[in-house]
Amino acid sequence: MDRIRLVGGNKLNGRIPISGAKNAALPLMIASLLTDDTLTLENVPHLADVEQLIRILGNHGVDYAVNGRREKQQEGYSRTISFTARNIVDTTAPYELVSKMRASFWVIGPLLARMGEAKVSLPGGCAIGTRPVDLFLEGLDALGAKIDVENGYVIAKAKNRLKGNRFVFPKVSVGATHVLMMAATLARGETVLENAAREPEVVNLADCLNAMGANIVGAGTSTITIQGVDMLSGARQKVIPDRIETGTYAMAVAMAGGDVLLENARPDLLQTALDVIAQTGAEITPTNSGIRVTRNGHGIHPVDVTTEPFPGFPTDLQAQFMGLMTMAKGRSRITETIFENRFMHVQELARLGAHISLSGQTATVEGVDMLKGAPVMATDLRASVSLVIAGLAAEGETVVNRVYHLDRGFERLEEKLSGCGAVIERLSS
Ligand code: UD1
Repeated sequence: MDRIRLVGGNKLNGRIPISGAKNAALPLMIASLLTDDTLTLENVPHLADVEQLIRILGNHGVDYAVNGRREKQQEGYSRTISFTARNIVDTTAPYELVSKMRASFWVIGPLLARMGEAKVSLPGGCAIGTRPVDLFLEGLDALGAKIDVENGYVIAKAKNRLKGNRFVFPKVSVGATHVLMMAATLARGETVLENAAREPEVVNLADCLNAMGANIVGAGTSTITIQGVDMLSGARQKVIPDRIETGTYAMAVAMAGGDVLLENARPDLLQTALDVIAQTGAEITPTNSGIRVTRNGHGIHPVDVTTEPFPGFPTDLQAQFMGLMTMAKGRSRITETIFENRFMHVQELARLGAHISLSGQTATVEGVDMLKGAPVMATDLRASVSLVIAGLAAEGETVVNRVYHLDRGFERLEEKLSGCGAVIERLSS
């Protein structure tokens, strides 16, 4: 299993190109199931989760082609990929595939809408909490689907097409919003989704669906209205820049110090997080080509943070922010409201010398003057990158084990950081 070795202490200086967003690319790829025409996606990040979803879609009959490899599309870089679901050969998503990546459960929406049936394995538990699928099932039921759960599978049927309806999400869910929006595009009549997720990835998906011929208004607000159409066609859509990757590297600079231009980053996708990072003492400057982050070496100010659905502070940046706060000049409180068990990084940060205590959903971090390098374990995608951030500022050597978590969501992490002066390398085994 690969490991990452870091030696902390260097400031970061230079440019980091921000990749296409994993969490936008995945639902856009799944949207290809809605049409027999070709959907071309630009700026698709080269990540383990994307490769896994390509395999899952292939199982349903989706062909893909990586376009224009010659033009700057080197191995490991964001690519343009075309997906064609001319014939859906299988409406079952088996346990072996769905259990590897939770977002693959989302195929249930397009399969049901286009084929009138879908049998999809329950995704099961996950390291950051129970993550149930009740909202998906309630929503699809509201659109007229007949839902049964048998032997670990959700069996959904809508023999005479889905039917538009009003559905109020009892809780904000990004995944359930993606799925119901996709399903409603091919339903008969109007669907109104209330208390919908407002994340930028939902807007990226709605833009793509509209380019495919759907009729969706209100994406990015909490009320999304969809007029169903008979069929969708192909389209071309660009994946938005990754706001979590942007925030992660901004926090890395805030922690290690330096001056880095985050190329292609869009401030509007993470304004709340940028405001928080600025409060810690870093300088954040939007430029024509991205976001410049500088920190002049003064102490890190402690800031309290509570995770919330967009436009609030994202749960996917909570671990990284805790990494930053471990060396703040004082005490900060970090409250997690989205997932009930998303603090596995606490004990690993403690191995680096961090002082953190947990009480329910709140972590209290007492900043220390210096962290000290140590062997640590990556436990999930975002938690593992918090260890990298902390390791960049720690004294001495840190080795992060189980880096396959990082490969799921961070494109060319070592290369991007070492390009800015960090001492970081992958140890393959
Ligand atoms: C997506 C992101 C993930 C991010 C999360 C919250 C992708 C691939 N993943 O995950 O990185 O951390 O949004 O911003 O885009 N819930 C239910 N019932 C359901 C569905 C969800 O109770 O049927 C709960 C979840 O357990 C959680 C909350 O709703 O407590 C929010 O989850 P949700 O927004 O659905 O997260 P994902 O879409 O899985």
